[in-house]
Amino acid sequence: MKKTGTRFVCSSCGHSEAKWLGRCPSCGEWNTLSEESASPRQRKKSSSGRISHHAETLSRIPEDAVQRLDTGIPELNQVLGGGIVPGSSVLIGGQPGIGKSTLLLQASRSIRCQGTVLYISGEESSRQIAMRARRIGAASDSIKVLCETDVQGILRQMESIKPALVVVDSIQTLLSEELGPVPGTVNQIKYGSHEVSDWCKEHQVPLFLVAHVTKEGSIAGPKVVEHMVDAVLYFEEAEGGIRLLRAMKNRFGPVNELGIFSMEDRGLIGVDNPASLFLQNREGGLPPGAAIAPVYEGSRVLLVEIQALTVPAKSGVSRTFADRIDSRRVSRIAAVLEKHAGLRFSDQDLYVNVAGGIRLDEVGIDLPLAVALYSARTGLAAPERIVFAGEVSLAGEVRPVPQPEMRSKAAEKLGFTAHIGPGKDGRGKNMRSLKETLAELFAAKKS
Ligand code: TYD
Ligand code: MG
Repeated sequence: MKKTGTRFVCSSCGHSEAKWLGRCPSCGEWNTLSEESASPRQRKKSSSGRISHHAETLSRIPEDAVQRLDTGIPELNQVLGGGIVPGSSVLIGGQPGIGKSTLLLQASRSIRCQGTVLYISGEESSRQIAMRARRIGAASDSIKVLCETDVQGILRQMESIKPALVVVDSIQTLLSEELGPVPGTVNQIKYGSHEVSDWCKEHQVPLFLVAHVTKEGSIAGPKVVEHMVDAVLYFEEAEGGIRLLRAMKNRFGPVNELGIFSMEDRGLIGVDNPASLFLQNREGGLPPGAAIAPVYEGSRVLLVEIQALTVPAKSGVSRTFADRIDSRRVSRIAAVLEKHAGLRFSDQDLYVNVAGGIRLDEVGIDLPLAVALYSARTGLAAPERIVFAGEVSLAGEVRPVPQPEMRSKAAEKLGFTAHIGPGKDGRGKNMRSLKETLAELFAAKKS
């Protein structure tokens, strides 16, 4: 007979089911459902007792300007929307080894806050942390390291130390015995993170939570606490030791902010002039299949090279291989080119890459992607030293994009001309046909 109160919870997304299933119906991952007790113990109230809340009249609630603490790391401040808000919780996710601990140790050293930083580690010993801290010059009297995984023990230490900033590295190590002996289950992660962030909210202390992600999604990760934190930042690795930090959610700032770091001997260093960071150095002009895009990422413009390759489909059915641009976008642009520019793609396999390893998801890359695909299919190289930005509609028109001036300026600074939106400078009001645009761009090449 089935025990009551037993649920099967997906370790990838936290979805729960009454019975076991081989595949999670919510996120589609296989073999991620495992049995967990549905009703963790009743949460204890803290000894001080919780503040009871009453409803307030909206118009009478005073507006206090959000004060932010300077983390001492400009790139991190920017991704957070100008520093960290006291009492807010920020989740930092990423693959093991990407630099989460390094970044937070650096922030622990340089944050402008009054008091002690409590760095809670369930992963590494205090000696290991001290070694890293010395390496990056973060060994400081104002940082206390607590190697502890028991949530109640952590809360007691927080109560006695009264820190001004808390770092939990990582939420996957948090353990409450009432929820069983194994850390890293969905319930353990949710409960532990909730308890710590509750304390921090009550005491107006900012909190960083670290969460590991694995490619296979085989361990419960940041997804299970994303909804309860104020901001979610993800680390991604690009080529050449470049680390990108993206805000996926931010209650106190814009999303899609992007921080760019390089991993050096002494920790993560913000990249000063990233506009040309992803451009490829090569002798001579662009080969067919390449086009440069001025992408607007995190309130600045980066020039990146989109590369396309088309080969006759091996299986007779056209397939798209792209992991740095959504493959649905690639298929859509290929379809528009086929319908409106008279190029056949439906018998081709399409490969699309972005040089430098950055992932792109922005309306403006439609046009450079179309140029790259057109160039790959026709064998005509795109015109020299021009960058392209524009949205492409299903009807085969090029539409304007946000921030045309910023894109033009960034391109000009690096010696490029910008072809943006329907007009040359993006100010043109009318849509323009993609076919005409391409014909004009490649006219010189054909003759
Ligand atoms: P780490 O912060 O431990 O990653 P995470 O916490 O996300 O698992 O960083 C790990 C990698 O960074 C490790 O492979 C060593 C490298 N590293 C440097 O190159 N320079 C440094 O100064 C430090 C501290 C780490
Ligand atoms: Mg770590």
